[in-house]
Amino acid sequence: MRIILLGAPGAGKGTQAATLHEHLNAPHIATGDLFRAALSQGTPLGLEAKSYMDRGELVPDDVTVRMLLERISQPDAADGYILDGFPRSLAQAEALDEALKSHNETVDKVLLVDVSEDELVRRLSGRWICRACQTPYHAVSNPPKTEGMCDADGGELYQRDDDKPETVRNRLGVYRDQTAPLIDYYTAQEILTSINGEQEIDVVRADLLAAIN
Ligand code: AP5
Ligand code: MG
Repeated sequence: MRIILLGAPGAGKGTQAATLHEHLNAPHIATGDLFRAALSQGTPLGLEAKSYMDRGELVPDDVTVRMLLERISQPDAADGYILDGFPRSLAQAEALDEALKSHNETVDKVLLVDVSEDELVRRLSGRWICRACQTPYHAVSNPPKTEGMCDADGGELYQRDDDKPETVRNRLGVYRDQTAPLIDYYTAQEILTSINGEQEIDVVRADLLAAIN
């Protein structure tokens, strides 16, 4: 199954994908995670992406689409995947549809995780992420068992540079202007289901699974 998790910064895409991908036995492919991994390896792609990420802007479509298509062509993605943070513009959505069409494939489901702006700001300001496996935690609503340490692999937890208040505001504006139009795009294809993302993490997960099955 080819699934897209759509939602604003802080909606819980990474939180949900981390468990959904095990349940569906499909890789979790997050373009933000791919850019951060490239940056930590110091590659030209990572350095180019950093200048956009630091400002909360989108990395240019051509660079992002090339990276994503390369990733979904890997053997582990042959039977499907969960996309998190891609597509984020109409051009990206159209490029994905075109690429899939050439293999007689389509996106199966788009799950919109819907959360109000006040709650998004609250979540991003308290977020901590595992440096090793990228699992997100929240200081108040989803704390790790041991402070500063990932439950899954013991990795060190850190706060993302782009979670600073002024960058968060910019990211939310970019979402409204460039990514939210995808809601109409996928509604017209009749593959979008909207989930209330402002519930307990387990309840959101159950709603997502119900929408998939
Ligand atoms: P990316 O890494 O994709 O970030 P994002 O979309 O801004 O989303 P986040 O990762 O911030 O939020 P999330 O929905 O994953 O929430 P999480 O689960 O962590 O992108 C970063 C940057 O990379 C972009 O700004 C751009 O520059 C670039 N980029 C990436 N993809 C691109 C693309 N396709 N094109 C161009 N540029 C691209 O949860 C947030 C917090 O809330 C956590 O603390 C969590 O514990 C907590 N939480 C989660 N669920 C709940 C709940 N139900 N109740 C209470 N708390 C919860
Ligand atoms: Mg994320």
